[in-house]
Amino acid sequence: MKGIILAGGSGTRLHPITLSVSKQLMPVYDKPMIYYPLSTLMSAGIQEILIISTPKDLPLFERLLGDGSQLGCSFTYAVQAEPKGLAQAFLLGESFIGNDSVALILGDNIFYGTGFQSTLQNCTNPEGGIIFAYEVQDPERYGVVNFDPSGKATSLEEKPKKPVSKFAVPGIYFYDNEVVFVAKSIVPSARGELEITDVNKVYLEQNKLQVKVLDSGTTWLDTGTFTSLMQAAQFVQVLQDRQGLSIGAIEDVALQMGYINQNQHHKLISLFIKSGYANQ
Ligand code: DAU
Repeated sequence: MKGIILAGGSGTRLHPITLSVSKQLMPVYDKPMIYYPLSTLMSAGIQEILIISTPKDLPLFERLLGDGSQLGCSFTYAVQAEPKGLAQAFLLGESFIGNDSVALILGDNIFYGTGFQSTLQNCTNPEGGIIFAYEVQDPERYGVVNFDPSGKATSLEEKPKKPVSKFAVPGIYFYDNEVVFVAKSIVPSARGELEITDVNKVYLEQNKLQVKVLDSGTTWLDTGTFTSLMQAAQFVQVLQDRQGLSIGAIEDVALQMGYINQNQHHKLISLFIKSGYANQ
């Protein structure tokens, strides 16, 4: 399975801090935001990853992450000239995806949970699409999924004014190769974007969409406002400092997944001794 990280957009909700630097490069405690979704894809077993961002920001991501070989992965890069929607990732990534299945994760979505890694690893060979549902207090800010009493997903809506359920759809999605075809078949929404919710609706209508409910053992953090960005950083700091856990550390995930060996890991993190990152 291939992976795509969508790390573009204009970050207007965090202006002025994102006026000159991409949102997905903002620090979340001790590492750039993109480390978290990148480590999520890597921990799912995905090593070939396309990073999509704006013409202005893409070189910064390349400078940060390189070609991925240092982590036993392969990273490639593509420009999204304008933020025309999440589903455009599959059009920009068409040749990268080739004949494979693909996972898309948003560069500002942070997940943490002990069982989450195995959940993701079970999604890497999807027949159709697999998305998640997460209960939140403010579903109107997200894609929302509704279920019938038997737990079957019945409808999907993007940012409904009056949500019919509290289940938001987080920004991680797994699809079979058909997704490229599906993304080509949808049209821009009223806000001028190719909506990921419209892609998911096609899969739902065809009865090919699995919606997995994430329980409270998994945390999905918001980074969309000044306050939530700070709270995300505090969450990471508390868990790392108090429990000695490593969250979003791409070097540790590469080691744990066997993409690199102990020596390679040591060489990588010894570059960060002065900052203390190496001691986490
Ligand atoms: O976070 C999950 C939500 O993400 C889902 O519940 C929604 O269904 C989905 O539409 C999306 O909602 P938002 O409208 O809040 O997404 P936003 O426009 O904030 O973009 C999400 C990230 O993707 C953000 O880091 C910017 C980046 N992006 C966005 C667009 C529209 C791009 O890189 N390119 C784009 O064209």
